[in-house]
Amino acid sequence: MTDRGFALDDRLREREARDLRRHLNPAESVASKTRFADDPKSGAIDFGDPELVFAANNYLGLADDGRVQRAAETAARTVGTGAGASRLVTGDTALHRALERDLADCKGTERALVFSSGYAANVGTIDALGPDVVFSDELNHASIIDGCRIGATETVVYDHCDPDDLAGRMAARADSEAGNVDGESWLVLTDTVFSMDGDLAPLPELCAVAKEYGAWVMADEAHATGVFGEDGGGVVQHQGVADRVDIQLGTLSKALASQGGYVAGDEALIEYLLNAARTFVFSTGLAPPAAGAAREALRIAREGEQRDRLWTTVEQLRDGFEASGYEVAGESHILPVMVGDRRDALALETAVRERGVVAPAIRPPTVPVGTSRLRVAPMATHTDDDVETCLSAFAAAGKAVELL
Ligand SMILES: Cc1ncc(COP(=O)(O)O)c(C=O)c1O
Repeated sequence: MTDRGFALDDRLREREARDLRRHLNPAESVASKTRFADDPKSGAIDFGDPELVFAANNYLGLADDGRVQRAAETAARTVGTGAGASRLVTGDTALHRALERDLADCKGTERALVFSSGYAANVGTIDALGPDVVFSDELNHASIIDGCRIGATETVVYDHCDPDDLAGRMAARADSEAGNVDGESWLVLTDTVFSMDGDLAPLPELCAVAKEYGAWVMADEAHATGVFGEDGGGVVQHQGVADRVDIQLGTLSKALASQGGYVAGDEALIEYLLNAARTFVFSTGLAPPAAGAAREALRIAREGEQRDRLWTTVEQLRDGFEASGYEVAGESHILPVMVGDRRDALALETAVRERGVVAPAIRPPTVPVGTSRLRVAPMATHTDDDVETCLSAFAAAGKAVELL
């Protein structure tokens, strides 16, 4: 009989051969210091010794903060553990509305809308808008890329953080035959903090180019909300372009220590999305404990204490790595410690880990060949001693694997 199956063992072996096979490693908790286990498959979990985590996106360290935990608990008790239906049916609660009001207030927009994840927010928004042409930064997140695949008629990729290249591509498209079609809709899409490079999108320049051609700009603040801006409003706020970015989008799952995504913008945008974004319409409303936790985390983030502490830690680490002889890329709280060769990066990751510090090697195809790195992501809850341990581990490991 003909086999019309999927040969999954072969596919996994092929991934293994290409060094692309991934494994789950359960953690005991999401704290800045925790214990991990090798993938137990279906067996019991056997945790190792505590390790310092410089690898999470829980940037403000709020995922195990008592105030945020209590907010989640209260939401579960008073509203429910799940929304029970999509927002358009019976899953729209006062708590969702309160969170959306807070997000809109922080972002300086008329309204906000929460989705079940940042991924769903990106895919649903791009798909609902259905742009004729998207101009997308070459290093944008996978959820933006998937949104373009599903929703955009044509996608033009521009060079990373390069407004001149964007301008050139827009000019070429406008001059082309298709560019003369009346009423074409254009959308510029960019992350604001790029998660593997730790650099920032030049939003004022990108907005200026977009406006010249009448295009809209959508900024993904997944790694920036709560971390950048005087009110935690992200890079859009930090660079003072809230009035020029048409769509501010992000996640509740990183600095806001919860789960879910959001879109912030004007009334018409939100009203349209809640009608037309399929990932909103056909998905259960955000779980109330996630909404409660995100709301409390946003309140704490806006106060600024955790943010200040995070930036102190970032400076200590950047200075310390550079003093040891490492090159650190980027200009944000994400610190890519550059290595170069893929195998060297893996060796450094292992040597750092042997010294009790978790910082993942990022290698091709995630980043270009020859630019492998360790991605160090501190949390506001790391102590000075934790930072010292991390720096000592990197210095000793670098010498052990002959990179320093
Ligand atoms: C830039 C960016 N956008 C969107 C997402 C997706 O967010 P979520 O984890 O809430 O689905 C991520 C997270 O990994 C991200 O880094």
